Amino acid sequence: HASSRHALRGATISFRADPFLTDPADALEHWPDALVVIEAGHIASVGPWSAEAAAGLTVTHYPDALLCPGFVDTHVHYPQTPMIGAYGEHLLEWLERYTFPAEAAFADPAHAAAVARLFLRELLAAGTTTAAVYCTSHAASVEAFFAESARLNTRMIAGKVLMDRHAPGNLLDPPGGGIAESRALIGRWHGRGRQLYAVTPRFAPTSSQAQLEAAGCLWREHPGTYLQTHLSESPAEIAWVRELFPTAESYLDVYRRAGLTGPRAVFGHGIHLSEGEFCQCHRTGSALAHCPTSNLFLGSGLFRAFDAKRADRPVRLGLGSDLGAGTSFSPLRTMGEAYKVAQLNDTRLSALHAFYLATLGGAEALYLDDRIGRIAPGHEADLVVLDLKATPLLDFRLGFCRDLAERLFVLMTLGDERVVRATYVAGMLAAERGG
Ligand code: GUN
Ligand code: ZN
Repeated sequence: HASSRHALRGATISFRADPFLTDPADALEHWPDALVVIEAGHIASVGPWSAEAAAGLTVTHYPDALLCPGFVDTHVHYPQTPMIGAYGEHLLEWLERYTFPAEAAFADPAHAAAVARLFLRELLAAGTTTAAVYCTSHAASVEAFFAESARLNTRMIAGKVLMDRHAPGNLLDPPGGGIAESRALIGRWHGRGRQLYAVTPRFAPTSSQAQLEAAGCLWREHPGTYLQTHLSESPAEIAWVRELFPTAESYLDVYRRAGLTGPRAVFGHGIHLSEGEFCQCHRTGSALAHCPTSNLFLGSGLFRAFDAKRADRPVRLGLGSDLGAGTSFSPLRTMGEAYKVAQLNDTRLSALHAFYLATLGGAEALYLDDRIGRIAPGHEADLVVLDLKATPLLDFRLGFCRDLAERLFVLMTLGDERVVRATYVAGMLAAERGG
């Protein structure tokens, strides 16, 4: 079936360049009425629709819609799905009171399988087709996640959380442990179909120096794998890291010294980074995940996206839902909150900036921009169809927009899962609203 040739018809948007670094109007590719031809799970061609171009093809027509590259979520925790919206704490207390108990339940593989199934269904319903996902410290939580992702044929990055201190005993790796299990999971899953592995030390406070260094060695042993962790999220966390690693020059320096920076390293948050740390991210090719709904929910602070993307030393940047501190699966909601955070920093995140971050920007952060993040020939056919008539209010409000940029901005301000009419994964319809 994957080899079958078929096509989608509708308006498209896609980015060919980074609007933070080039004129946004040049960075955007837009066809008001396009034919996207799909073959063997890839995009074979994209161009203006015509009867001749569509001849002989089975065409699914989406009028009153916008076809986008599938959204990329660069930071999310699937085991926290059962605890979204847990009340009343900042980061460190929230971890102890809600997160660790929720993650302990993943000792039960049946629970892991059930949550993985629900999580991936929600992700696709929100239009997200690739995510960098934290599992728990249980190898079975990774097994369950990749098994479900492989079944759906989604391109996912995931890994076993590494922790050997400062967390409940039932979640800790034994001294010297966790690495062999991670290595075995890499062997089983990295590069199997569309699955990719991320070495995943939770964050500096929950790993010993020895475990961080072992994680760095494991990562280097397996080229093409990822490294994901948290960085500079809350003031109390940063003070704690300073206490635990008194000789490190900065929070990021803790990771650098353990060999945890470089291409395919993805750091969640990075809210309170110094100029030196931004430079170090740029120089090493490390990426940041901006998680606005989470940062507002936990009261962690206001990420400076335009500082991160400064043209003389731009840092690779994607958006993250960071569920379950994040409060929505929807990249449209995340984009809308990223705009508000930028407002509070006295900067202005346009719709083109935001849609870039949720698509090509995320793909570049993950070094996957040759495969996903664009509607372009040769790219994997992961697509989302946004319904411009999804709600009466959206339909009504879009009627007052004068151009595409205004329409996109209204979509990210009013939009959520209801706007996602269909999601295609490697050319196949994987989720459909009401379907
Ligand atoms: N820092 C360490 N672990 C976590 C987590 O699970 N969520 C968030 N938001 N920050 C963290
Ligand atoms: Zn996180």
